[in-house]
Amino acid sequence: MEALIGVLPGDGIGPEVMAEAQRALRFIEKKYRHHFVYREALIGGIAIDSQGHPFPADTRKLCAEADAVLLGAVGGPKWSDPDSNVRPEQGLLGMRSAMGVFANLRPVQTHPALYAASPLRSERLAGVDILVVRELTGGAYFGRKERTPDSATDVCTYTRAEIERVLRMAGELARTRRRKITSIDKANVLETSRLWRSIATELYAREFPDVKLDHMYVDAAAMHLLSRAADFDVLVTENLFGDILTDEASMLTGSLGMLPSASLNAEKRGLYEPIHGSAPDIAGRGIANPCGTILSAAMLLRHSLGLETEALAIEQAVITAIESGCRTADIALPGKSPVSTGDMGDAVLRALDTQ
Ligand code: IPM
Ligand code: MN
Repeated sequence: MEALIGVLPGDGIGPEVMAEAQRALRFIEKKYRHHFVYREALIGGIAIDSQGHPFPADTRKLCAEADAVLLGAVGGPKWSDPDSNVRPEQGLLGMRSAMGVFANLRPVQTHPALYAASPLRSERLAGVDILVVRELTGGAYFGRKERTPDSATDVCTYTRAEIERVLRMAGELARTRRRKITSIDKANVLETSRLWRSIATELYAREFPDVKLDHMYVDAAAMHLLSRAADFDVLVTENLFGDILTDEASMLTGSLGMLPSASLNAEKRGLYEPIHGSAPDIAGRGIANPCGTILSAAMLLRHSLGLETEALAIEQAVITAIESGCRTADIALPGKSPVSTGDMGDAVLRALDTQ
């Protein structure tokens, strides 16, 4: 098939991990006879430096035209002055909003080869297979913001329509899995959560009677993710809770560097990015873990291009590469020397080649 893929490497380790994901995509093109056109654009700090805006017009145009967009990371100390009113993160949030990608899918699966990299004991990791569906274009991230020298305000608003569409997407995804949804909120305190909870109860009873629904407060969910993660199937939650819980959940898999994500709109035209940030402390050293971005490319093949076989091939190749002992510093085994970003990418290509 033919497809136009927008490539936004961004800041920090973004370009390094993106290079490996693109190599994996090119390999897939050759092996399965597809033709992808890659068009690159600027986002984040690098876009501020060269164009004065974190989400320039060219990038916006590419996002509107591409079949899917793959992003590295944005941000860094150079642009993090809290008093500045232009920030790299605004580029990312502006892009999510412009593309209307309201559902952010963050799968969290554990694998025996990575148990040792997790701070948790392996008996807590066995059989963990969670899909977090994070609402991505609403809540406190996008509400009215105000600041005076002595007070600050972030308004959190959710409409019925915003809640329904993300709950529906989670419901459809649950049907492809174990048909269990945990809706996470703070309904004992927040009005938005009380609306969320009542809509979830109604909507799943009416439209998804075959899916089992539980509600859970976010503080309890944070705890249960560490004590009994294997009990969860699909978690659905609002923007900020989803942001925090997925960083926490990444520790089940061993490293933040492992987790991919897909952000989908109603047409499933998506934005794909690892959940980690730009990691300025290790940027430019060739030691970042590219797996989160490589696995995001796999999600792109699955959700935006409908190429399930190819997506599975990449996912399997990442596991094979890690099992072969090729591991970057964040997931290295004790006493074994870590490999570089490029070596990790090589190992994935070798695994793809020998499948
Ligand atoms: C993420 C990131 C972003 C977010 C930041 C960089 C704005 O942490 O994708 O999880 O908070 O959504
Ligand atoms: Mn985050």
